[in-house]
Amino acid sequence: MSDPAAPSTAWWAARAVSRRLPDFPWDHLTAYGERARAHPGGIVDLSVGTPVDPTPAVVQKALADAADSPGYPLTVGRLELRQAAVDWLARRFGVTGLGAAAVLPVIGSKELIASLPTQLGLGADDLVVVPELAYPTYEVGARLAGARTVASDSLTSLGPERVSLVWLNSPSNPTGRVLPVEHLRKVVAWCRERGALLVSDECYLECAWEEQPVSVLHPDVCDGDHTGLLAVQSLSKRSNLAGYRCAFVAGDPALVAELLAVRKNLGLQLPGPQQVAMQAALEDDVHVAEQHERYAGRRTSLKQAFEQSGFRIDHSEASLYLWATRGEPCWDTVGWLSERGILVAPGEFYGKAGAEHVRVAFTVTDERAEAALARLRA
Ligand SMILES: Cc1ncc(COP(=O)(O)O)c(C=O)c1O
Repeated sequence: MSDPAAPSTAWWAARAVSRRLPDFPWDHLTAYGERARAHPGGIVDLSVGTPVDPTPAVVQKALADAADSPGYPLTVGRLELRQAAVDWLARRFGVTGLGAAAVLPVIGSKELIASLPTQLGLGADDLVVVPELAYPTYEVGARLAGARTVASDSLTSLGPERVSLVWLNSPSNPTGRVLPVEHLRKVVAWCRERGALLVSDECYLECAWEEQPVSVLHPDVCDGDHTGLLAVQSLSKRSNLAGYRCAFVAGDPALVAELLAVRKNLGLQLPGPQQVAMQAALEDDVHVAEQHERYAGRRTSLKQAFEQSGFRIDHSEASLYLWATRGEPCWDTVGWLSERGILVAPGEFYGKAGAEHVRVAFTVTDERAEAALARLRA
């Protein structure tokens, strides 16, 4: 029997944090998933961007060799790991002027994106700008902190209101669009003028097909000055490492130090063996080239098959997605494809501007990609 004098057990429900978070209706997709699964050849699931190819042997070996790990890892991360991150950004993306103190490992980039506004002390007085078509976690993080968000690709249309944080994502999920250097320069200049923090989610930097993405930390973008800038990097896509949760943030050393000071108190340490594995992944480019070739093949054949069956592919110059449309409401397209046993994500999940698009992930095995091709050609 519960004590009638006790406070209502529902006190927490009334203030449940989950209520603050956006409705991300993957549930709406369930019925389409069931229809696709009923296809005699089984489902071809192109709705999520989760890697399916093996974790590179060099990384698995590094993890296994580091398996003896009795002590706590440090939140700041091993120096060798942070140096490997600096060297990777320099070697692959021409980023100069970073030191190891400007890098902090995080437990997958989603964790950082969702908690960064809270960890930097944003609240009800703060406005966060997210892209019009965006990975939903930027909004999740802002709402968790109690901050307001506006979805806009045009900073000049925002008016005089004070902006605290601007998110960029190039290459973009879901559109695959790559922002050119001139655009990035303008955003950096705008943020500097207005005193806003600029955080660039660059987790698809190595997944480029028709355009070469540039980091916001590149000297052509920021003139070598990282003040007020952070770039978020992830090993999930580049190195088939989503299961290891290996990512890092780099940029303004003062901001990185502040995140470290907060995160130390929260126990947000990347496990030691994962740190060693992540270093091995960052130091090796061979597996990246191999994986790039696999994706390039699947992308080319799926793009062609979708185009031949009446789709238009917009952007998609980089990332692991095709941003496809048949010029009809996205749910109609989701339905049409599900009847062919193919599941995709409705563009609406990423913003109003996606109402007539679907996002097609090419993170599937060659066998499943072939099945999709056959069904689209039938
Ligand atoms: C744009 C974007 N940012 C961040 C993430 C999160 O990646 P992870 O948490 O695996 O590093 C994803 C995952 O799909 C993504 O698409």
